[in-house]
Amino acid sequence: MTIATVILAAGYGTRMKSILPKVLHPLAGRPLVEWVVATGEFITDRRPVVVVGHGKEDVQSLLGERVQYAEQKELLGTGHAVMQAEPFLRGTSDQVVVLYADMPLLRESTLQNLLGLYRDHQSKDNLALAMLTIVRDDPQGFGRVIRDENGQIQAIVEEVDCTPEQKRIRELNPGIYCFNSTWLWENLPRLQVSAKGEYYLTDMIEIATSQNRQVVGMQAPPEEVYGINDRTHLSAASHVLRHRINEKHMRDGVTIIDPASTYIDITVKIGQDTVIQPGCHLQGNTTIGTGCEIGPNSQIVESNIGDDCRIIYSVLEHARMDRASEIGPYGHLRKGAHLGERVHMGNFGEVKNSYLGPDTKMGHFSYVGDATVGQNVNLSAGVITCNFDGKNKNHTELADDVFLGSNTLLVAPVALGVGARTGAGSVVTRDVPANTLVYGVPARAPVNKIKPDSDSE
Ligand code: UD1
Ligand code: CA
Repeated sequence: MTIATVILAAGYGTRMKSILPKVLHPLAGRPLVEWVVATGEFITDRRPVVVVGHGKEDVQSLLGERVQYAEQKELLGTGHAVMQAEPFLRGTSDQVVVLYADMPLLRESTLQNLLGLYRDHQSKDNLALAMLTIVRDDPQGFGRVIRDENGQIQAIVEEVDCTPEQKRIRELNPGIYCFNSTWLWENLPRLQVSAKGEYYLTDMIEIATSQNRQVVGMQAPPEEVYGINDRTHLSAASHVLRHRINEKHMRDGVTIIDPASTYIDITVKIGQDTVIQPGCHLQGNTTIGTGCEIGPNSQIVESNIGDDCRIIYSVLEHARMDRASEIGPYGHLRKGAHLGERVHMGNFGEVKNSYLGPDTKMGHFSYVGDATVGQNVNLSAGVITCNFDGKNKNHTELADDVFLGSNTLLVAPVALGVGARTGAGSVVTRDVPANTLVYGVPARAPVNKIKPDSDSE
C-alpha cells in the first residue's frame, strides 16, 4: 500500500498575534510545521505535500526540498486546501493521510495505529476513510463527532454549527485522517461552501455516509491531540515536547539532574554518562560527547563539545571544545572559538574566532579574539588581544610555550615565537622572537634571551 501525506499549513494563525506565520513558531528548537513533517516522514518515504498560503516563502525557505508545495491562493478552508494537493497526488497512491500543521504532539505510533485501522477495514471495498477521534471534557472548539444508533460515525459538525445538544458531545475531531485516495479525489469536488464561506474537509464524512461508504474511527491518546492556536498553547506544547526530549536522553544514558529546568532542543545530541546540571539551555545543532559535566546554568548554542569536558555557568555560541577541556565559571565562547584538548579557561574569559592549543591555560578575566595560540601557553590574569584598530580585525599569533605575564596587552597584528615571555603589564606592539623576554610599555627586550634550563653555555 502506498501512502501520500498532505500537511495543511496555509492558515493565517490570527490568534498568535504575530508577524511570524503560526506554523513557523518554534517549539523545543523546531518550528511547528517541521514537527508535523517529521511525524509524517515516519509513515512514508514519499515527500509530503505541504499546502502553503500565508507566509509561504518563509515556509519554503525553512523546508526546502524536503517537501513538495501546493499553493492555496485563497484561504477557503481545509477542504479547499486539500484540493490544492490533487494535481500532485491523484493516481499516485492508495491512501492519502491528511494532517493539520498545528498538531505537534501527535506521535508516530498513533499515526501507525491509524494506518493499521485502515488496513483492517480496507477489504470492505466501501471504506472511504479512517480517522482518529478523542474523548475529552474540554472541547477546545474542536468539531464534534456524530454517531448513529449503531455507533457508526455519521458526520462531523464544527462547533459554530452545533446545536446545543451536539455541543455537549465529548467525542471530538482531531483532524487526522487516512483517506481512500480514489474516493477522496473523486468526491472532494462535492464539498459545499459553508455558512462561513469555507469548504470544510470535515464534510467529507457526511458525503461518505450519504453514499453508504464506511467511515471508521479509533481513539487517540488525548494528550497527543493539541492544536496550537495562540501562544498559551505554544508554551504548553513546548513543555510536553521538552519533557519527551529529556526522557529520551535519560533513557539513552544521560543524567539530567532537574528536567524541569533543562531545555534541550530536539536537534541536540548528547553522549552517555554526561551529566546535565540544572538551568541549562542546549540549542541548535549542538553535539556533546560522553562523560561531560554541563552546568549548572549554561547556554550552549550550535557548538561541538568533545568527551570529558566541563562547562560551568558559561555561554557558548558556534564554538568547539576538544576532549577534556573546561570553561567557567562565567566563560564566554563566541563564534569560531576552539579550545584544544585539556585547555583550561577559568572565570570571566572570552574567546572569539580563535584556536587555543592543547594544555593552554587562561585562568582569569582575559579576552582572546582573532588569535592562534599554540600548545601549553600560559595567559595570566587580564591578558587581552587588542585585535581591533577601529577599522580592521587583526591577528595575533602565539607559538607553543609562550608565557604572558598578568595584564599583557597584545596589540595586533603581532606574533610571539616559541617560549617567548612577557612581563606583567607589558604592551606588546612588535613581534617577539622565540625564547625572548620583553616587558614595559611598549614592550622591549633590552638585555637577555631566556637561557635554557639546563644551560651549559
Ligand atoms: C479544524 C477542523 C475541526 C477540528 C480541528 C482540530 C475543519 C473544517 N475543522 O478546525 O473539526 O476539530 O481542526 O484542530 O477542518 N488551513 C489551510 N487552509 C485553509 C484553512 C486552514 O491550510 O484555508 C490549515 C491551517 O493552517 C491549519 C489547519 O489547516 O494548520 C487547520 O485549520 P484551522 O483553521 O486551525 O482549523 P480549526 O478551526 O482548528
Ligand atoms: Ca486549529
